[in-house]
Amino acid sequence: MSEIVDISGKRILLVGATGVLGRVYASALAKKGANLIIADKEQTDVLSFAQKIDALGVIVDVSSEKSVIDCINYCSEKLGGLDGVINNAAATTEGLMESGQSFAEFEEYPLEVWEKTVNINLTGTFLVAREAGRLMKSTSTSASLVNISSIYGVVGPDHRIYEGQSFKSFPGYSASKSGVIGLTKWLATWWGGTIRVNCVTPGGVFNDHNDQFVKAYSSRVPMERMADREELVGIVLYLLSDSSSYVTGQNFIIDGGLTAW
Ligand SMILES: NC(=O)c1ccc[n+]([C@@H]2O[C@H](COP(=O)([O-])OP(=O)(O)OC[C@H]3O[C@@H](n4cnc5c(N)ncnc54)[C@H](O)[C@@H]3O)[C@@H](O)[C@H]2O)c1
Repeated sequence: MSEIVDISGKRILLVGATGVLGRVYASALAKKGANLIIADKEQTDVLSFAQKIDALGVIVDVSSEKSVIDCINYCSEKLGGLDGVINNAAATTEGLMESGQSFAEFEEYPLEVWEKTVNINLTGTFLVAREAGRLMKSTSTSASLVNISSIYGVVGPDHRIYEGQSFKSFPGYSASKSGVIGLTKWLATWWGGTIRVNCVTPGGVFNDHNDQFVKAYSSRVPMERMADREELVGIVLYLLSDSSSYVTGQNFIIDGGLTAW
């Protein structure tokens, strides 16, 4: 009997593959038999990680139009087309931890950090969607694009949970992640049955956060805990598979109920 969620043999590009969630998606996709290319920025171990999981790897900077075009050309050359893409790359709190600037007070917030965030998170999602979309349209009969937003693209953060922490939520993140949901809906109605387009919206995923933060965050969640990174995998596999063949234009919020209050 074939698996209910079957992605074996599907030609899939995962963009943003070496971070907290990207690694878990990449390993699951490889294990489930996808014909996988993983992409990430130059400063990462994307090429050696790809070898380790028996996938192909490519360098991409999603904020550069030329780099995204080169990445999709690589997919076309290596796989002859694409059936699925996960737009997972982002400037995140995790990624910007080292740059104290990004956590400035809003009244002093630096324009360049705002612009950098929007360029990676929103314009990057647009560029990958445009380039990969053109390729999927001409090479796949069951194409699926999965964008990744955040609960902070749906609701505002409770800024009090960051009191005493070295990190915060930041404005370009929320704005760009809201934009990703809007772009998802726009593309779903643009492509109709040609390419299904959906969004996955995770809540806070535990990544060795300190006890004070875990407690403060968890107190905002009906399920009273952060997500485990494996808890996001199922929805991504489902959306890439033909099991979701009648699903498009939706935002799947996986947040332990945080946005349900
Ligand atoms: N972890 C969470 O709690 C959480 C919650 C909500 C949403 N998300 C979303 O899930 C996705 C993955 O998050 P994560 O926690 O794994 O974050 P992460 O910072 O660990 O990973 C982000 C990935 O994007 C890549 N990236 C950053 N800039 C890039 C660029 N210019 N070009 C190409 N790649 C680039 C990074 O190298 C990294 O692999 C993100 O879109 C994030 O916004 C995460």
